[in-house]
Amino acid sequence: SESGCLSIVVLGASGDLAKKKTFPALFHLFQQGFLQSGEVHIFGYARSDISDDGLRERIRGYLKGASDEVISEFLQLIKYVSGSYNSSEGFELLNKTIAEHENSKSNKPGSSRRLFYLALPPSVYPSVCKMIRSYCMNPSSNDGWTRVIVEKPFGKDLDSAEELSAQLGELFNEQQLYRIDHYLGKELVQNLLVLRFANRLFLPLWNRDNIANVQIVFREDFGTEGRGGYFDQYGIIRDIIQNHLLQVFCLVAMEKPVSLKPEHIRDEKVKVLQSVTPINHDEVVLGQYDGYKDDSTVPDDSNTPTFASLVLRVHNERWEGVPFILKAGKALNNRKAEIRVQFKDAPGDIFKCKKQGRNEFVIRLQPSEAMYMKLTVKKPGLEMATEQSELDLSYGLRYQDVKIPEAYERLILDTIRGDQQHFVRRDELRAAWEIFTPLLHDIDAGKLKALPYKPGTRGPSEADELSKRMGYVQTHGYVWIPPT
Ligand code: BG6
Repeated sequence: SESGCLSIVVLGASGDLAKKKTFPALFHLFQQGFLQSGEVHIFGYARSDISDDGLRERIRGYLKGASDEVISEFLQLIKYVSGSYNSSEGFELLNKTIAEHENSKSNKPGSSRRLFYLALPPSVYPSVCKMIRSYCMNPSSNDGWTRVIVEKPFGKDLDSAEELSAQLGELFNEQQLYRIDHYLGKELVQNLLVLRFANRLFLPLWNRDNIANVQIVFREDFGTEGRGGYFDQYGIIRDIIQNHLLQVFCLVAMEKPVSLKPEHIRDEKVKVLQSVTPINHDEVVLGQYDGYKDDSTVPDDSNTPTFASLVLRVHNERWEGVPFILKAGKALNNRKAEIRVQFKDAPGDIFKCKKQGRNEFVIRLQPSEAMYMKLTVKKPGLEMATEQSELDLSYGLRYQDVKIPEAYERLILDTIRGDQQHFVRRDELRAAWEIFTPLLHDIDAGKLKALPYKPGTRGPSEADELSKRMGYVQTHGYVWIPPT
C-alpha cells in the first residue's frame, strides 16, 4: 500500500554526502508535496553524539530556496539516533524509534514503508546491512516494504564487487536493493531513450554507417581538495568513468528495449556492456594534475589518475569500428559534462565546406542543459558561402518555467515508488567491472603512467591527440556556446 507511514533513514547523517545531497534532495521532495508530515518521518543515524536539533542545525545551511518557516517545518520531520555501524544496541534503538513513529496516532493507517539510505563508505555496507536485516525490517511481513539505497563505489574491481554483491545479496533481494548512480537521475540522461527511440530522424542514422565517433566527456574545474584520501584509493576511472560515463554510454549505444519496463531496459544495458571488447592500452591516456600530491593524505609516489581518456569499442552490428571516447578529468579548465556524437562527412563535397567541420549532435548534461546540432548552412548574404551553425534547444530558454529536478531528488522518489529503471542491476555492475578490471589492475601495478598536466588546462595534450587519432575532427576557428 502506498498510503502507510513512510520512514526514511539516512545512515551517515552527519557526513558530506548526506548534508550536501541527501537531505537537500529530501527537502525538495518535501517542498513539492511528496513527503507530507503525518505520513513521513526522517531519521538521521550516525556515530556523533548530538541532539535532534544538533543535526537539524547542521543541515539547515544546505537547504536553499525557501523561507525559514518552510525549512523549519521540514527540519521538524527529522529525528536523530546515535549509534555505531556494527552494534546491535544502536540498531535496536533505531528500530524502536522508527516503530514509535509508525504507531503514533497522527499517522494515516496503512502498512509501513522503510527506506534506508546508506550515505556511508562501502566498507561498512555489509555490517550495516546485516544490522538492518536483523533489527530494522518493516514489521508487517506481507505488506509494506523495506528498501535500501547504496552508493558507489561498489567494490574496487570485479572480485571485490562480486564479493560485496554476494554479501548484500544474502541479506536483501534485488527488488530491495537500489544501487544509485546519480547520473541516471539527470534530466538529459533520462531524455536519451526518448530522443533515440521516439524520433524517426535519429533511428536510421544511429549506427556505424553514419556516425564517425562518439565522445562522452566529464570535466571539472576543481581538484580533489578535501577528499584526496578517498580519491587516491580509487582514481578517476573508478570515480567517474566506470559508473557515470559508462551508464551514459549504455543509453547511447544500447539497442531498443522491448518496453519501458525496468528489466527490459536493464537487459539491453547488460547486452551492450557485454559487447564491449577489451580496452586496448594504446587507446588510453592517463593524467595527474600538478599539485595533486600536495594533499597530505595522498602518498608522494601516487600514480593515481585524476584524468583519463580511453576508447571503448562495441563488437556488434550497429557499432563495429566506431570509437566511443570516454574522457573525465579533475582540475581542468571548465566544468562540463556532454555527449558529442560526430557524424561522417557528407560525400561529394561540392561546396568545399568539409574543412569547416562535421555534423555533430551535442547533448550537454551540465551545466545549463542543452542539445544542439551542428550543421553546415549557407552564410546569409549575397555570396554563396557556407558556415557552421546550429539548431539549438537550450533548456534555459525553451523551458523557462520548468525547474529541472536534482538527480538525487528524482532517484529517491523512484525508490519510494518502487521504480528500479534508473538503478544499476547486479549483472550490470558485474559487466561494468569486467570491462575495466584488467586496465585498472595494470594501472595499479604501475604498467601505465599518469602524465602530468597543469591545473586549469584541457589535461594532457596526448588526450587530444588520441581523439584525433580516433577520427574526431575538431571544428576550426569556431566554438559554439549555447545561451544559458
Ligand atoms: C561523484 C564523484 O560521484 O560525482 C565526484 O565521486 C564528482 O568526484 C561528482 O565530483 C560529480 O557529480 P556532478 O553531478 O556534480 O557531475
